[in-house]
Amino acid sequence: MESKTRERIREAAREMLGRNRRQGYDRHYRTSFSYTCPSPGRYHWQWFWDSCFAAVALSHLDIEQAKAELVSLVAPQQPDGFIGHVAYWGKKPFVEVWGHLQSRPLLRPRHTQLIQPPVLAQAALQVFERSLDKAFLMELLPRIDRYYRWLGAHRDSDCDSLISIISPYESGMDHKPAYDSVLGFKPGRAGRRDRVELELRNRLLDLSNLRRGFDSARVLARGRFDVEDVMVNSVYAQGMRSLAALHRAAGHRREADAWEREAERTGAALLSKCYDESAGAFWDLAGAREMPLRVLTVTALFPLVLPDTPREVVDRLVRDHLLSPREFWPRYPAPSVALSEPTCKPDSARFLWRGPTWLNTNWFLFKGLRLHGYTEAAGAVRDASIALVEREGFREFYDPLTGRGMRSTEFTWSALVVDMME
Ligand code: GLC
Repeated sequence: MESKTRERIREAAREMLGRNRRQGYDRHYRTSFSYTCPSPGRYHWQWFWDSCFAAVALSHLDIEQAKAELVSLVAPQQPDGFIGHVAYWGKKPFVEVWGHLQSRPLLRPRHTQLIQPPVLAQAALQVFERSLDKAFLMELLPRIDRYYRWLGAHRDSDCDSLISIISPYESGMDHKPAYDSVLGFKPGRAGRRDRVELELRNRLLDLSNLRRGFDSARVLARGRFDVEDVMVNSVYAQGMRSLAALHRAAGHRREADAWEREAERTGAALLSKCYDESAGAFWDLAGAREMPLRVLTVTALFPLVLPDTPREVVDRLVRDHLLSPREFWPRYPAPSVALSEPTCKPDSARFLWRGPTWLNTNWFLFKGLRLHGYTEAAGAVRDASIALVEREGFREFYDPLTGRGMRSTEFTWSALVVDMME
């Protein structure tokens, strides 16, 4: 790539991340904070995975801010290790209605009671590797360790090494069509009314979780929404490997080995429970009976990010699906839902995660492809991502067929292209 393009994108990203920075002092947590909001017009708070992606991009542009981002992210951690997916920093946060439904205390929430895909250890590892700041490592490591312990202890109720999510929002893929059947939602042709119905079903689920105090054991026992999501678990396994690397850097050999083994267990469980040999894809599992949710979304390809996914399985994910123009390989890969799925709406912003291309999933795919030696395909994902940002700016998502940018502008995590360019 031309070095001028690269410089231009880096500069634009640096400026945008600077504009999206929110700093201050929080009286509740008794600490100062410094984080990058996902998008100034729409998402004001510190969001869990958005913040991890911000740290990854910042590790190339402003390493001190990258560290501050993660220090702020773990500051609201609860004594048991939990970290909510949105932290409401500042004096008198205005919280959206849904925020109240997903939080405790209900009236003056400080953070939500939901999780998001656990990319924390990956982000911390990258920031550590680029800063070699041992004090940062030693400060964060115990908290990160406690966070992954919380996930295993509270979300793996059937002890199969796969963690459950209790709401679609926990996967970060709010309206992913694989969840429709679990929510009892049948998309029709009603357009706007469909969106309202789906929203309502999600809010009723929030209420049901709230009534159980967001206590994972009670919520999972009720079983209203209990999904072992392939993307969440791939990120979880990848995260535990990064956590092992962080422990190794800190000289903790025993902990490093133990987390490595946990990561292997989750990888093996994805393979034995979620992989469908006949489809050559991985399905999310729903409920205690682990019913496979057979909808081809980008999630189905995610074990690509793990080094222990066998060669023949990776080959099928890549050759049969990712590189197929009828599914995930239009002009601007990779759509969040295969183009062949009836629920795929590549040019619509009515729903989230029902067709358009997002750059955070491209970042994972890029890394996974490189990991397994698909250098050319990785380069194509990177180049498409760069072309989207060059033409349309840092948007929330893009039409995979035309490249048109959609919904939020100045969207922080689209700066992940900076990491892909290195
Ligand atoms: C949307 C996305 C979610 C993201 C949030 C903030 O809700 O679906 O993944 O974290 O916006 O950007």
